[in-house]
Amino acid sequence: MSTVRKQTPVSVEGRLGRANEHPGRHDQDYRRRRDALAARAENHRVGAPYEDVAYTEDEHRTWRTVHDALAPAHRTHACREVLAAGEAADIPAEQIPQHAEITPGLRTRTGFSLTLAGGVVPNERFLGAMEHGYFHAVQFVRHPAVPLYTPEPDVLHDVFGHGIHLSSPGIAELYRVIGRAANRVRTTEALDILSRVYWYTLEYGLITEAGEPKAFGAALLSSYGEIAAHEVREVRELDLCAAASTQYRISSYQSVLFAARSFAHLEDAIGRFCAEFDDDTGNRLGLPSLPRNRQ
Ligand SMILES: [Fe+2]
Repeated sequence: MSTVRKQTPVSVEGRLGRANEHPGRHDQDYRRRRDALAARAENHRVGAPYEDVAYTEDEHRTWRTVHDALAPAHRTHACREVLAAGEAADIPAEQIPQHAEITPGLRTRTGFSLTLAGGVVPNERFLGAMEHGYFHAVQFVRHPAVPLYTPEPDVLHDVFGHGIHLSSPGIAELYRVIGRAANRVRTTEALDILSRVYWYTLEYGLITEAGEPKAFGAALLSSYGEIAAHEVREVRELDLCAAASTQYRISSYQSVLFAARSFAHLEDAIGRFCAEFDDDTGNRLGLPSLPRNRQ
């Protein structure tokens, strides 16, 4: 495995302080719970075992609310590859599954395992681990006041988004391809470019079916408020140079989304972009140097 940067779980103060709209901002009990679960990731070694969470009934209720909203929303708005992967993933309706319950199925289907995160993980570690079949996932649950949107990754996002993706061999391979490219580069600028490619495809990508953009990205799949995002957002045909030149925001809706013509188009685009990606690719393609991604 490549050298990976240690993750330092972002405190609730640091994380929520930037995300002014976070619904848990003034809820001290929520913040303590969220921070305690995030803190478990400190010093976590990629792939090492970790403890289950004793989720509360309130947290399970949030899960059920989101599940009941997303299941029909996926049938209406998700692309075919995601619907097929969702069948395989067989996400429970009533209870939040433990990471340890999800990983064996992923490992069987695609070789992936969940590994513990405490929030947003540095690009080098997050992307690099994907080459080796590890996906960083958190254990905490979004605030119950706004169950259908979260400004940061939570267990619902990781299961309904990435858990579904990583149940499909074809989609999981895209994670590995981006991870392989990330492990080839050393500069922050190159990793930032790859993080934008990742963001606009695996998090927020669309795939056009019969002339209509359908949700592919994990962030869209896990957010009832965003899954039909193409109806209110500017949608451009997938162009990874354009995507890599577009700054994104972690904690709010994106202003532009990119739609592949098909899943094969998405595979081809990511495969070509990543195949020879190196520290000089940004210069060769004339990609702009952007400020760090905004929260
Ligand atoms: Fe994500």
